[in-house]
This record gives sequence, structure tokens and C-alpha cells, in this order.
Amino acid sequence: MNYKNILFEIKNNTGIITINRPDKLNALNGQTIDELEDVINSIKDNNDVFVVVITGSGEKAFVAGADISELNKLDVISAKEFSEKGNRVFRAIETLDKPVIAAVNGFALGGGCELALASHIRFASEKAKFGQPEVNLGIIPGYGGTQRLARIVNSARSLEMILTGDMLSAEDALKIGLVNKVYPSSDLLPETLKLAEKISSKGQQAIRFALKAVKATDNMSLSEGLSYEASLFALVCGTDDFKEGTSAFLEKRKPNFKHR
Ligand code: COA
Repeated sequence: MNYKNILFEIKNNTGIITINRPDKLNALNGQTIDELEDVINSIKDNNDVFVVVITGSGEKAFVAGADISELNKLDVISAKEFSEKGNRVFRAIETLDKPVIAAVNGFALGGGCELALASHIRFASEKAKFGQPEVNLGIIPGYGGTQRLARIVNSARSLEMILTGDMLSAEDALKIGLVNKVYPSSDLLPETLKLAEKISSKGQQAIRFALKAVKATDNMSLSEGLSYEASLFALVCGTDDFKEGTSAFLEKRKPNFKHR
């Protein structure tokens, strides 16, 4: 697929997706959502991509939400399809077996905040602003915000954001655990890529098993999760990377992972 509204490049095993509609503050219209789905599906099968970074084009916005000019035309049936499609794409991001890091470089509102929530790790620039302003438009979040925000922060904080529509500064987002780290704008992408490269330097079998195990906490009780962890632990001990990592430690050398 030739993309109109996103850019995609691979640098040192990091797939960088840039939402690219800066004149509309990178608002997610239908075509952008389709393109995002396509690129995520292609990344699944791309062995050169170990880690994914999602960011926004321009100085101002990560993503300022779903495209309101399209929202305005929805009726009951098309609204259900709209929400289900967004949820399918964001779920594909959340369940990708490669770590996804959101580099939030400006406004992350509505669907933009939800895109960051579906990512596994969130870094933000000092200029970033987070919000679920849907109530100002007479709607509710429809790309997972009512579900993921409460799981990532807590129910009361999530309700405060969703019921007021107020924006949160990056500093406040850090305080409530909505983002992992905040950087000056010029450092955001370099620091995000540094994190991606650190993750890429590990054995990727272990990275994938670890991601799977931690993400399972979304759906499993502690006893189910512990049993799942034991199964994944057993499987990862069948990889070449396990032999290499443990042998390298004992031989006092750096591991040379082959990612199998
Ligand atoms: N959907 C469609 N277009 C959007 C948009 C969105 N979610 N957010 C911004 N834009 C467009 C504006 O309409 C404007 O387009 P125009 O130049 O053709 O008129 C352009 O992006 C720049 O936005 P503007 O509002 O002029 O910038 P600002 O700096 O004054 O305000 C925001 C920035 C983010 C506060 C403001 O754009 C805003 O409130 N956006 C909507 C946020 C929202 O409600 N998102 C949730 C949707 S569910």
C-alpha cells in the first residue's frame, strides 16, 4: 500500500511510524486508520523490525484525535463500525509481539491519547498535552479510552479526565503514571530511539516472551498469569538465545544473540 497520511521507515531494527497530517494536527481520518492497520500488519511479518516507535509529524501534535469532520457525519450504525474498526487497529498495536513505544511530541487528544494508551511504553516531550475531550463534542471515547485509561492510571483519575475533557500537561501525566518519561522536545525522538535500540540489543525471543507475559496481566488472574509465566519460561529455555545468553555470562563475554 502507498501511504498518504503516514510515513514509515526502518532504522537499526526500529520501525518508525509517523502520523503525517500536520496541517490537521495529525487527526486520524478513515484513511489514516486504514494505513495504520496496514503498516502494523506488515510489521508483524517483518523480521527486520524488532521495536516500533509511533510519533506525530510537525512541532505541535502527536495526534489531535479522530477527524471531527468525519465524526460529524456518523449515525448509529456507522458509529459502531467506526469504533469497532479503531478498536481493532489499536488492539493490533497492543497485541503486537514487538514492543511499541509512543513518542508523544505534542497534543495527544481523544484518539491520540488512545493511540498512546494502546502502545506499550509512552515517552513524552515537555510540550505534550494529554486529554480525552470527547464530552466537549457530545460523545464518549470510542477507541478504547474508557477501558485502557483506567487500567493504566486508575478509575478516579481516568474519570476526572474523561468527565471534564481537561488537558493534562506532560508533567502531570508523568505524576499519574500515564507516561514513563518526559524529555525536552529536541531530545524526545533521540531518547525514544535509544530505548528502542537498547531493547533491540537483547535476544528478541526473550523480548517477545516477556512482552506476552506482562501483557497477559490485562486478562488473567494472578494464578492464571503465574501458570502462563511458567509455560513461557519453559519455552524460552528452548531457544538458542537462552543457551547463548547464559553461556556468555559464564564465559565473561558479551552475548551474540541470533534471535532464535
Ligand atoms: N479533527 C479534525 N481536524 C482537526 C482536529 C481534529 N480532531 N484537531 C485539529 N484539527 C484541525 C483544525 O480544524 C485546523 O484545521 P484548519 O486549519 O483547516 O481550520 C487545524 O487542525 C489546526 O487546528 P487549530 O484548532 O487551528 O489549532 P489550535 O492550536 O488553535 O488548537 C487544539 C489546537 C488541539 C486545541 C484544537 O485543534 C482542538 O481542540 N482540536 C480537537 C481536539 C479534539 O476534540 N479531539 C478529540 C476528537 S474525538
